Amino acid sequence: APAAHVQRDLEGRHVVVTAGGTREPLDPVRFLGNRSSGKQGYAVAAEAAARGARVSLVSANVSLAVPDGCDLLEVGTALELQEQVGSLVEGGGVDAVVMAAAVADFRPADYAEAKIKKTHGPDDETAPTIELVRNPDVLAGLVRARGGGRRPYLVGFAAETGDATGDVLSLARTKLERKGCDLLVANEVGTDRTFGRDDTTVHLLQPGQDEVETVGPATKTLVARAIWDRVASSLS
Ligand code: CTP
Ligand code: CA
Repeated sequence: APAAHVQRDLEGRHVVVTAGGTREPLDPVRFLGNRSSGKQGYAVAAEAAARGARVSLVSANVSLAVPDGCDLLEVGTALELQEQVGSLVEGGGVDAVVMAAAVADFRPADYAEAKIKKTHGPDDETAPTIELVRNPDVLAGLVRARGGGRRPYLVGFAAETGDATGDVLSLARTKLERKGCDLLVANEVGTDRTFGRDDTTVHLLQPGQDEVETVGPATKTLVARAIWDRVASSLS
């Protein structure tokens, strides 16, 4: 029962949680988006607030009730998310950042001020090619900005499907090393797994630690609890 969970081990901490998925506009009515529902990020934010933290919830395109005790900061695009997280962290006093949001890696190179039309004449059967440019890697930027310091504690998520180059765990290990964060939460994704669902299986990986904790199949609340258990013990 939730009432049994009365640990206040994040009292006095300020944490930033990003949730949802960014949308990168193409024209006034269209965007490039992803399938993130925001459920995992909102569960992470709710759990931190329940454990006593001040929570800044940077939310990208989520239609869920805001958890009790969280300050909602809404963003649309990856650039807006980067700016919001950056200003929170630069303000000082942030103990941890959990990057649960699905941040678009690319955005359309150009934004059309007017709706893109299908045809430009009676015989026009052409289709446009959409050029993309890279978005900044927000988590990598936080790792860089921290320099050699240990604050804020940085948690990354890895949505992996597994591919020809490796299974979910080996891809996650490589990503943890590349990202330089303190904890990586890896989950297996596919169209009917994880996205929008209430239960999930994740693997928790930390740098320099060979053993991997697997949580699940479990509710996103239990996953959130396991994440904050790790963060709280690292902060203390
Ligand atoms: N992330 C970020 N900024 C981006 C892309 C991702 O901060 N532009 C963060 C995500 O919020 C997540 C972590 O980086 O916490 C890993 O995201 P993921 O998409 O799994 O990794 P990428 O490095 O983007 O690699 P790829 O998509 O190629 O697997
Ligand atoms: Ca990505």
